[in-house]
Amino acid sequence: MKICVVGVGYVGLVAALSFAKYNNDIICVDKDINKIKQLNNGIIPIFEEGLEELLNTCIKNKKISFTQDLDVAIKKSEIIFIAVGTPTNDDWSVDISQVIHVANEISKAINKYKVVVIKSTVPVGTNDKIKKIFLNNGLNDKHFDIVSNPEFLREGKALNDFLNGDRMVLGCESKRALKILEKLYRPFNTKLIFTTPQTAELIKYASNAFLATKISFINEIANLCSKVNANIETISYALGLDNRISAEFLKAGIGYGGSCFPKDTKALVSIGKEYNSSFNIIESTIEVNENQRLLPVKLVCEHYNDLNGKIISIFGLTFKPGTDDIREAPSLYIINELLKKGAKIKCYDPMVSNEIKNIYPDIIYCNNIYETVDNSSCIIICTELMEFYNMNLKELAKIMNYPMLIDGRNIIDMEKAKKSGFQCYYSIGNGSYDNN
Ligand code: UDX
Repeated sequence: MKICVVGVGYVGLVAALSFAKYNNDIICVDKDINKIKQLNNGIIPIFEEGLEELLNTCIKNKKISFTQDLDVAIKKSEIIFIAVGTPTNDDWSVDISQVIHVANEISKAINKYKVVVIKSTVPVGTNDKIKKIFLNNGLNDKHFDIVSNPEFLREGKALNDFLNGDRMVLGCESKRALKILEKLYRPFNTKLIFTTPQTAELIKYASNAFLATKISFINEIANLCSKVNANIETISYALGLDNRISAEFLKAGIGYGGSCFPKDTKALVSIGKEYNSSFNIIESTIEVNENQRLLPVKLVCEHYNDLNGKIISIFGLTFKPGTDDIREAPSLYIINELLKKGAKIKCYDPMVSNEIKNIYPDIIYCNNIYETVDNSSCIIICTELMEFYNMNLKELAKIMNYPMLIDGRNIIDMEKAKKSGFQCYYSIGNGSYDNN
């Protein structure tokens, strides 16, 4: 099938390459000329396992190309995916201006019947708004159908999630459009759900808000564990054995980050307000997360009354392992707060990009963990990178000015930290001690 994908961010790129893998002919459109050039040369601008290899295979087989020319791409395609960004406004509402802009451009270029699919995460009612734009621009239902098709992929596992997702939601009332998309998705190992556009739009927000709520819930239980000497890891394990609860997203830590949970939880609250429908649970989820990501700062301040001039070592910057993405990463909020309190920051993350160097040009970016702890008064683990699991803790404790460890992702055993010479250790509901 001939497909156009507008927007080559995470979602657009993964979708485009997945369709190309199954022998469809894809034209990707983006306004960013640098991205277009890189992609046509087989270079992926983000880090995502397996993507660059697939891109090069698809380029070699002439199954994919990248352009800025939307008009030509639309005319050549029977299905058009909109996968542009929908950032958060200051009042937590969703900024759909890019989707609206692209919809206008698409409607001007349509020459015969097309299925237009909204992949971007958009508030309820956006499908209707886009339909009105098309009608206002002189088209009728013989020219197009609009389908809502939200995406549930995780960064770091994006390709696998797209090809083998738990479900593919298609929101549309036109049988003609659904038949075309059913054919497109037939080779994918997934369950197709056919529903209305409004329901499809809401499924995405409900799904992300629910997962975020699980994380905030377990983090509140973990905080109580720290006070009553209970163990959160055992509690999560026991909870997870109950199939009604499931074991996923019960890992306590310093909160969730990334491009979806923070944004989509806020969007759902804002959508609720618009329709006078309260979302107390989600509001609490957000508040718990905002406090949780600053827990390490609270702990380090409780130990040292004054952080002025103290070196704090940050281990891991990305919002989770397997990605170079720092959007809404807890590490950024921690660094920000520590800098305000006069601390000096040394950090280490093998995936560190220029993006963070531009945000914090004055902190020290180290090449390994040993450099990072030199003269340091505390380590804060922000991301559970593989190499942190088996660190030589004895060596680290020796190099530090004062061996204090805050394990924000519960990956270092308390007894091991004690035996290695750490004088002060905190985890998130998994034990703590302070020899002072
Ligand atoms: C998420 C959803 O999983 C995905 O379905 C949606 O399409 C986009 O948002 P992603 O943001 O890539 O995907 O990351 P995910 O693996 O879900 O983790 C999100 C955050 O939650 C990370 O910061 C992670 O550290 C945190 N998390 C996750 C926890 O703190 N505890 C957990 O048990 C799970």
